[in-house]
Amino acid sequence: MLAAVCNVWLVTPMKFLITAGPTREPIDPVRYLSNRSSGKMGYALARAALDAGHEVVLVSGPVCLAAPEGAAIVRVTTSDEMFDAVHARVGEAEVCVLCAAVADFRPAVVEPRKIKKGDAESRRIELVPTRDILLSLRDLPPPKNGRKPVVVGFAAETDDVMENAHRKLRAKGCALLVVNDVSRADIGFETDENELTLLFASGEIRPLAFSKKDTLAAELIKIICTIS
Ligand code: CTP
Repeated sequence: MLAAVCNVWLVTPMKFLITAGPTREPIDPVRYLSNRSSGKMGYALARAALDAGHEVVLVSGPVCLAAPEGAAIVRVTTSDEMFDAVHARVGEAEVCVLCAAVADFRPAVVEPRKIKKGDAESRRIELVPTRDILLSLRDLPPPKNGRKPVVVGFAAETDDVMENAHRKLRAKGCALLVVNDVSRADIGFETDENELTLLFASGEIRPLAFSKKDTLAAELIKIICTIS
């Protein structure tokens, strides 16, 4: 929450739960399915929230980034672990920002031993859907003494960007969807810059111009606090 007193912005500290990075879904003891998420945007959001005086629990998939100082960090590997970590902590959260690139599918069977190339001429891996963490927050009952958290989702799209994003916002029922065009090489995965479009549940659309992820993160945290 933000309040202006004598032109000075006072911040009411809030409890943020942020997810970041990719998940890894094991195939066998040496292989996994994953994606190109570096975790930079989620970590930038965690730092920006801390800098603004908020409390942060950061649920992080495997990334090569230093933990933001002051965040309570929960390290996970698989989508199931991320799901459980979020649900174990969502009761305390006032704002949930789900920035992680969670794998949508995982192997139905995890082979206990390394798959050897000589075992077969070709191999099919059956994939089953993972649990959708963002969607699962939509139908959470309100806590006994408090409000449901404000939920912010991210959308990584390569085509029909805004059409897909509108559909995702409606389906996932979040207050705000932050849209990323990941088909562009200069923004999104693994880069230090991004360009975002914000889709609010109210119908408002607001672009955030090309900028450093740190700058965008600070702007986003301010905006999120106005809808909290
Ligand atoms: N998400 C999640 N759990 C999943 C998959 C996605 O919480 N199992 C969240 C992401 O953290 C993000 C949002 O859902 O906030 C949208 O993720 P995205 O990958 O863009 O979309 P999907 O839901 O995976 O849908 P699609 O594959 O059709 O684009």
